[in-house]
Amino acid sequence: RGFLTGSAAAAGVAVGAAGGAYAAHAAQPGPATDTAGLNGARTHDFHGTHQAGVTSSPGAHGAFLAFDLPAGSVKDDLRRLMRLWTDDARRLMSGAGALADTEPELATAPAGLTVTVGWGPKAVALAGGSEAVPSWLRPLPDFSIDALEDRWSDGDLLVMIHSDDPVTVSHALRMVSKDATNLATERWRQTGFRQAYGSHPSGTTMRNLFGQVDGTANPPLASDDFAARVWIQDGWLAGGTSFVLRRIRMELDTWDQVDRIGRENAVGRTVDTGAPLTGEAEHDEPDFDAVDARGFPIISDVSHIRRARPDDPSQRIVRLAYNYDDAPRGNEPAEAGLLFGSLQADVDAQFVPIQRRLAEADLLNVWTTPVGSAVFAILPGCTEDGYLGDTLLD
Ligand code: HEM
Repeated sequence: RGFLTGSAAAAGVAVGAAGGAYAAHAAQPGPATDTAGLNGARTHDFHGTHQAGVTSSPGAHGAFLAFDLPAGSVKDDLRRLMRLWTDDARRLMSGAGALADTEPELATAPAGLTVTVGWGPKAVALAGGSEAVPSWLRPLPDFSIDALEDRWSDGDLLVMIHSDDPVTVSHALRMVSKDATNLATERWRQTGFRQAYGSHPSGTTMRNLFGQVDGTANPPLASDDFAARVWIQDGWLAGGTSFVLRRIRMELDTWDQVDRIGRENAVGRTVDTGAPLTGEAEHDEPDFDAVDARGFPIISDVSHIRRARPDDPSQRIVRLAYNYDDAPRGNEPAEAGLLFGSLQADVDAQFVPIQRRLAEADLLNVWTTPVGSAVFAILPGCTEDGYLGDTLLD
């Protein structure tokens, strides 16, 4: 419903023909009057112990925005901004326009929108003093594989926006940016995409731009395993987590030259189903001890999954990845890659050992280069009377 059909569409074309340049307009769909059952009507509850952007499966479109607090910011400024962003998230996630929204029509299809807020060390110190800053909340140690650029790194505040509708993401992003005026300045913005809603059966693991099934080893949302990896248990961050965002360039041109055997060897999984090289189906457990007829490991010791998998289960992370594919800038070539997000209760205990092992030896390093890096504390969720950050700001 709401779409021109049959004779109406024909009439549209006829009107358009008479109207010259506006022909295409006349045949466009009108506003939908019945949203029941549409993915656009899908909402996540903003309130709760945790922020919904961590507890829900990520939308097809994602935007990550980092802001800096201007010199001279005081605690009251941060509180004001958090109240504004909380109000934005609360309204937009329910499908309503933001306060004083000049385009509330752009908010009517949340399509699973989540707006999630995190803080860098400066914001935490402003809110609660330096003793409130977790020891892991700082730039990551240097890794030999890094070629980091300032324009994709660090930041005092993070806003992460996910939805299946790119128009909704763009609108939410603008509301959040407008509300930050005079309180914070945008430092960087990174946008990415996953498979569109409806393109694949629900529950299908996404593919990255190397064509690999990416995300298999993640635990199911809402499982005990997920909770154990992700949630901080104590202090003002209880119910929150930490987030590392690595922007990783992927060399699609040289990857193109690698044959299928080389590609599968680099990861330790097949390209078609994502099954481990020792198994049949995507979710079969890899057997790292299995050897071939000549006695060589079937999954290479320097394959990505062998290096990335911690022997100690308490060091596991939850990955949240978006593809990106950006236009050339000046004389630079186009850049594609992965916005590699990692959620964990403790960056130093979980993320860093994995990244260290990968930096030391990982076949994928031949075709991948981290060019951005940032670490944030993802705030706990809030109640209907509260606001994001109130566990430290009040
Ligand atoms: C697994 C790709 C970067 C940690 C995988 C898998 C693929 C993949 C295809 C196998 C399927 C799966 O379980 O998801 C990539 C690509 C990267 C990248 C293309 C860079 C562009 C990273 C980084 C880290 C990481 C930076 C962490 C520092 C992991 C972990 C697993 C994994 C922990 C699961 C291992 C297991 O327990 O089986 N990755 N990855 N990856 N990756 Fe990555």
